[in-house]
Amino acid sequence: MGVVASAPAKIILFGEHFVVYGEPAIVLAIDKRTYAKAEKRHDESLHLRSKNLNLAGCFEKENFKVEQGDAREARLKLEPIKLAVEKVLEIHGESVGLNVEVSSTVPVAAGLGSSAAVAAAVTAAVGALLSEKLSKEDVFRISYEAEKVVHGTPSGIDPAISTFGGTLLFQTDTGFKPLNVKNDVPLVIGDTCIERSTRVLVAKVRNMRERYPHVVKFMMRAEREIVLRAIDALKGSDLQTLGDLMNLNQALLYGLGVSHESLERLINAARKAGALGAKLTGAGGGGCMIALAENEKVEQVSEAIQRAGGRTFTAKKTDEGVRIEQA
Ligand code: MEV
Repeated sequence: MGVVASAPAKIILFGEHFVVYGEPAIVLAIDKRTYAKAEKRHDESLHLRSKNLNLAGCFEKENFKVEQGDAREARLKLEPIKLAVEKVLEIHGESVGLNVEVSSTVPVAAGLGSSAAVAAAVTAAVGALLSEKLSKEDVFRISYEAEKVVHGTPSGIDPAISTFGGTLLFQTDTGFKPLNVKNDVPLVIGDTCIERSTRVLVAKVRNMRERYPHVVKFMMRAEREIVLRAIDALKGSDLQTLGDLMNLNQALLYGLGVSHESLERLINAARKAGALGAKLTGAGGGGCMIALAENEKVEQVSEAIQRAGGRTFTAKKTDEGVRIEQA
């Protein structure tokens, strides 16, 4: 018998990249979840499988043996899961052999935080299997460690939202504050289906900031202003203002060099079809964009994004962070 845990994916509404440098960002958990199943083995090896990536492998002490897919890719992609498991085993205080399998309804490397959702779900599943009472803070801390292996210098926004759920105002120095957003935010998500690396895009922004510190400083200030205005607009369900602010945010992200022609195509199509605002979400460089549209325009915005080559889906915000599905 195993334990199954799940954690939600996320959408960054405002503030990606700027959040790495201490600016505030607004992020919401969505009803697309990643599932992790953990069960004990009779030996001490660690067997990891990612159903979506079609990768599997076994870690035994320092050795790695691939069981499905390309050996290098399997090791690389399974490493953060291994790290999360090891952190829980450290708390447990003794070595236990495990099978851990992850599956997901979240597109991978698309800006929706799939890797953080995997880490949070794995941490919770293994913790519950070993009867360790992990708090949400513990799950966050461990998934953040795993995230550092994947992304280098992440802000922590992805593991925070996958762990705690809801709609959060996130800032690296002050942590996060839940935003009391009552109404749904009618968003269409468009996936360019171009995979990209968050690590590479974060490094690109760092480089831009080093080369043009004074310019980027003003962009950071502008972003902060956008986020502060967006908090009120979200609370008051002022979609028109939210849309304007999304367009302004996209202009800054474009300026930083993290948009992509495929993203621009989908964003322009959405705006032409009547979206109130549209922007990339997550690290950019491909991955997903989001468009805000009044309910009666959602259909036509979605069709326009598809005609421009995007794969669309809608998602609702959820308050549910990481949770045990089956113990
Ligand atoms: C990735 O979802 C968001 C970035 O701001 C990186 C981070 O905050 O860790 C691009």
